[in-house]
Amino acid sequence: MYSFLMQAHADWRYLVLLLLGVSLVKYLVGWLRSSSWGRPDQILGTVTTIVVDIQLLSGLALWGVAMSQGLLGQLGRVRAFEHPTTMLVAIAIMHLGWRRARHQATDRDRFRWATLAFLVAGLLILLGIRLVTRMA
Ligand code: HEM
Repeated sequence: MYSFLMQAHADWRYLVLLLLGVSLVKYLVGWLRSSSWGRPDQILGTVTTIVVDIQLLSGLALWGVAMSQGLLGQLGRVRAFEHPTTMLVAIAIMHLGWRRARHQATDRDRFRWATLAFLVAGLLILLGIRLVTRMA
């Protein structure tokens, strides 16, 4: 059970990174070219946040199983606390920024907020992945 969850959690990261990368490029280009905010922009951000939320749920499940089996101590500080905390902060920033983007009055500001939200969240997520893979 634990190893299945762990594998699913580890593999899902590629979809997260792919969607964050595509979103970031799309929003940055939209911002720089002052494009109109369209339905594909809305859908892309929504899908990306859902995919990241699934990663969050699998991480919480992993953490919960590890805790219930008394494994947290064995995981070490970085895997048990620093990685989850970094990711929770990243995901909170992504959600707040994405919400803010959707409520802007102009398309340019929507692209700007979406770019900043996905950029900051993406960098933190890369850092959080590096924390656990560097020591694997
Ligand atoms: C975007 C968010 C996240 C990404 C991309 C991500 C990715 C990863 C990756 C790549 C690993 C290492 C797998 C390996 O060693 O091969 C890992 C491990 C782990 N993650 Fe996450 N994670 C995220 C969020 C979270 C969250 C929110 C939690 C908990 C609340 C969490 C809990 C854990 C734990 C406990 C491990 C270590 C498992 C072990 O070594 O047995 N993750 N994560």
